Amino acid sequence: MTIPAQSAGARLTKDAAPGETLLKVTGLQKHFPIRKGLLQRQVGAVRAVDGIDFEVKSGETLGVVGESGCGKSTMGRLITRLLEPTAGQVEFEGKDITHLGVGGMRPLRRDVQMIFQDPYSSLNPRHTIGTIIGAPFKLQNVTPEGGVKKEVQRLLSVVGLNPEHYNRYPHEFSGGQRQRIGIARALALNPKLVVADEPVSALDVSIQAQVVNLLDDLQQELGLTYVIIAHDLSVVRHVSDRIAVMYLGKIVELADRESLYKAPMHPYTKALMSAVPIPDPRRRNAKSERILLKGDVPSPISPPSGCRFHTRCWKATQICTTVEPPLVELKPGQQVACHHPENFEDQAPQDTVLLTAAKEAAALVADEVLAESAETSAAVAAEVETASAEAEAETDAETASAEAEAETDAEAATDAETASTEGETPSKEK
Ligand SMILES: Nc1ncnc2c1ncn2[C@@H]1O[C@H](COP(=O)(O)OP(=O)(O)O)[C@@H](O)[C@H]1O
Ligand code: SF4
Ligand SMILES: [Mg+2]
Repeated sequence: MTIPAQSAGARLTKDAAPGETLLKVTGLQKHFPIRKGLLQRQVGAVRAVDGIDFEVKSGETLGVVGESGCGKSTMGRLITRLLEPTAGQVEFEGKDITHLGVGGMRPLRRDVQMIFQDPYSSLNPRHTIGTIIGAPFKLQNVTPEGGVKKEVQRLLSVVGLNPEHYNRYPHEFSGGQRQRIGIARALALNPKLVVADEPVSALDVSIQAQVVNLLDDLQQELGLTYVIIAHDLSVVRHVSDRIAVMYLGKIVELADRESLYKAPMHPYTKALMSAVPIPDPRRRNAKSERILLKGDVPSPISPPSGCRFHTRCWKATQICTTVEPPLVELKPGQQVACHHPENFEDQAPQDTVLLTAAKEAAALVADEVLAESAETSAAVAAEVETASAEAEAETDAETASAEAEAETDAEAATDAETASTEGETPSKEK
């Protein structure tokens, strides 16, 4: 498999070199207003994303994890500019894109693409997959060299589907195949950044690994940069270079993968890791390290004061209820927002008084409770390993045929917003 030609010289010159900052987010906020009454007065706001800062470097994969409702999808839609931020700044390749209009966004629509969570609702059932994957070209009135059909068929084979199935409809495909169609559509315009919002959550475990591997292979072949969103760590741990952990609209820990897995510093990260035990025999016996969070995530309409995690944190002390801990770099490459971080000097707040609620906020988990998620995690890991070995064997054959087609000039402009929005799951706007 090879790249659809990254043709225009103009585009190449503005490419961020590997390792350079591609995307930079500062103080990003999205508050969805809550309106009531005849006059639709604003009575409050859902603080879905509430001030986050991070960077994504060219060629890397940033994993974003957190429980449902903590603002991951909203973050994804903000950085792809499918949503207008309430405050903060988004820079892409050094350019402020926070408030660009339709015209200004046009080139960006090519460079930044989104893959959606639900492969069932994200493809229009009335269109053939040829039409769906070719939509980005059609919308821009651009014909790739060799024609749209040929390019779409090439994309189908790139994502491991039969190019002959060009005229079939989405319902004729399985979940995993549909997600491949979504990936092909996202790749049509040769993007630089792909934001994948829980790309495998809706799929069976065995299929999850195949799709994760496909994303991984495509990254290496096409030099893509990814932001991959997931609700637990089992998926992102295999593919991420760095991982951001979100809780109630905030990033609570941001670290490279090794550091995060070896020594998580935020109690919430530790809890997330306990819920999905790593299939590593050396860690199996670490029972005392396993923590089960009790209760639901509080409402983002009125998040807890101080540290937002204090209502569920087993280490919470008085200061946690009043002072919000800033996200600071406590170790090289590891940023944490906590007054009593794990794996650091202030291990446990012995010298301070634990809140009564804190003592009951979490419980150590019995092995049986974790058995199921451990199995899932182990199955994904095993599949990923087997599949990558198989993929390597196949690549040689694929490369030969794909290289012939790689001459094709994939330079195409499009209004990807339309293409992407076609794929969007129905908005939750109330
Ligand atoms: N369009 C919207 N209008 C109002 N509230 C929204 C909208 N989209 C998301 N939310 C709310 O914002 C919060 C974060 O949602 P979301 O970003 O979808 O979280 P996640 O993807 O982590 O599950 C949730 O409380 C959700 O109900
Ligand atoms: S120890 Fe305090 S600051 Fe740290 S996560 Fe728990 S509640 Fe938040
Ligand atoms: Mg989501």
